[in-house]
Amino acid sequence: DLGGVGEELDVSVYAVGGFVRDLMLGMENSDIDVTVEGDGILFAETFAERFGCRVKSHHKFGTAVIVLPDGLKIDVASTRLEYYDSPGALPTVERSSLKMDLYRRDFTINTLAVLLNSRGFGLLIDYFGAQRDLQEKVIRVLHNLSFVEDPTRVFRAIRFEQRLGFHIAIHTENLIKNAVKMNFLERLGGKRLLSELVHILREHEPQRAIERLAMLGLLPFIHQHLELTAELHRLLDETRKILSWFDLLFLGASCERWVVYFLALTAALSDDEFWETCGRLAVSEHYRERLADNRRQGSRTLNTLERLIADQMQLLPSDIYLLLKDLTVEILLFLMARTTGEEARRVVSLYFTKLRNVRISVTGHDLEALDIPHGPRYRQILDSILAARLNGQVNSREDELRLLAD
Ligand code: CTP
Repeated sequence: DLGGVGEELDVSVYAVGGFVRDLMLGMENSDIDVTVEGDGILFAETFAERFGCRVKSHHKFGTAVIVLPDGLKIDVASTRLEYYDSPGALPTVERSSLKMDLYRRDFTINTLAVLLNSRGFGLLIDYFGAQRDLQEKVIRVLHNLSFVEDPTRVFRAIRFEQRLGFHIAIHTENLIKNAVKMNFLERLGGKRLLSELVHILREHEPQRAIERLAMLGLLPFIHQHLELTAELHRLLDETRKILSWFDLLFLGASCERWVVYFLALTAALSDDEFWETCGRLAVSEHYRERLADNRRQGSRTLNTLERLIADQMQLLPSDIYLLLKDLTVEILLFLMARTTGEEARRVVSLYFTKLRNVRISVTGHDLEALDIPHGPRYRQILDSILAARLNGQVNSREDELRLLAD
């Protein structure tokens, strides 16, 4: 009962931003953003105490996060900010209004507010023509400096455009082009750039958004040699198909879809350029190394596989398993999208559907029971039983034990 606590503290409480936008569009959005006309931290702490929730406050920004017992989060902001410039100094208090708070936002469609107080509950506040733009399906900034103030908004504009099926207003698009021309995006820190890119690549079907990034000249900010070629088109399209194939299989293996798209987006870059890209995006040292290693190993594996197929070598399931077992799910899916060879794709799909989860029941204990001395032989024996199982030569624990006895 957010409105009830508002009444009690005599402050107005509004649901704002994406939550209201999605409400108007009939879309789901579980993130609730609330703005309090007054002290938002006091509001959040009172609410949390009353309803037994956790709360985390950031005094500097006058914001708080309420975590409901079911894990749902409510972000609370204040229109009244109170902060200390230096320890011991008097607090600086900034008052603004709901209207000012909404004016600072990215796009008109995110500026709707709904009053939550019991008195006047549900009152819709629309200062900047948000309802009109929702109706006309337009992404529009509120003022000309929006992208200069916050260049991440360029990526947000494209993300919303594609997700909602809207289009960026002409003037807003010109402001983006201008921000690109003036190199404002170069100032964007790697972490923020990565976060925006990941958001885009996590959208349902990101290829249109990537086309828009290319069209607006944004790809070179990720790496100067990134460009939308016919091959990248094909690759993104294949990636989408492969990912929906993978979803349908429902293998229970987790997969970071954005990583597969990221690999596709950067497929034409050399190893060094890929490394530079990860650097530009401030990918953590550890993850960068792993990703680059996997990518290299993936390329080598695909080459080997395609060569074996071209030479018409007979590939046993155990050979396929050995070739692919150390690659991550994301790399494997990327390789499936990358290869133009039907047979190579069939081989990787066989690995996913039939081989990847094959296990044997014989363990080291069974070997001990047979008085086989400890040592590297254990691994060899277990591997050869696994190979036999993969190739269909043994199908049960009895078969495995029989093979072991031989
Ligand atoms: N916002 C902004 N500028 C940014 C990021 C956010 O003005 N660079 C504002 C937007 O108006 C947005 C609100 O902060 O409505 C909350 O941000 P966020 O949760 O990222 O946006 P949502 O609109 O909720 O988007 P999503 O549906 O993707 O969560």
